[in-house]
Amino acid sequence: MARYRHVVVLTGAGISAESGLATFRDRDGLWSKVDLEEVGTPDAFRRNPDFVHDFHNGLRRKVQEVEPNAAHRALAALEQRIAGEFLLVTQNVDDLHERAGSRNLLHMHGELLKRRCQACGQVDAWRDDLGTGHVCAACGRQGSLRPHVVWFHEMPFEMERIARALAGCDLFVSIGTSGNVYPAAGFVADVRRGGRAHTVELNLEPSEGASLFAERRHGPATAIVPAYVAELLAG
Ligand code: APR
Repeated sequence: MARYRHVVVLTGAGISAESGLATFRDRDGLWSKVDLEEVGTPDAFRRNPDFVHDFHNGLRRKVQEVEPNAAHRALAALEQRIAGEFLLVTQNVDDLHERAGSRNLLHMHGELLKRRCQACGQVDAWRDDLGTGHVCAACGRQGSLRPHVVWFHEMPFEMERIARALAGCDLFVSIGTSGNVYPAAGFVADVRRGGRAHTVELNLEPSEGASLFAERRHGPATAIVPAYVAELLAG
């Protein structure tokens, strides 16, 4: 472990799969059941806000019914035990990393358990269903509230902070992501350009970008993530 002084971990839907949350692109994934163009874009929300709210309301309820798994917990333990810098960047909008104890955590695609007012920008915690009838607690407008998540064609959050962490890291670990969606899918190439970091993919199967990683371990996250963390901490 002393080997690495600045660790960046990226996670995707695959780390939450064994907790019972559907991924997006697996056989029975979310995008096999609903068209992302109908629920996952700003245009979809403009066209049919009730349908988009219903989709997110279902996910928000489901997230509150499941628990973090051993992979989430292993990353929290790694963060506690690491002497150097640690940043966990997640594409996930669930709160399973928080509930497992992760602290230095960045939700680049936002958080399902928060809502944002499109009129005044106010973001607040929100665990219930959300709809066009709700009124913003800050500006009083009705119908301007949306899930605080990043849709397609929108800019992910904190990209500057992520770029700095990627440029300075000496270990980059990508967990449970298919490598289909940018900018996250490009992070491993960004790290490799820096020239000195070790890059690891921990995934059920080879991702789109698997060949870009110096090390690849494939299997269920609840098996391979705790095993990898145990090796790092013993090293
Ligand atoms: N353990 C480890 N990996 C798993 C497991 C598991 N139990 N189950 C599935 N996976 C892997 C799959 O092999 C796949 O590579 O997780 C990955 C999930 O890929 P996607 O469903 O594409 O999810 P993700 O990569 O997080 O999607 C990125 O796309 O739709 C947008 O905004 C959404 O954040 C999401 C982004």
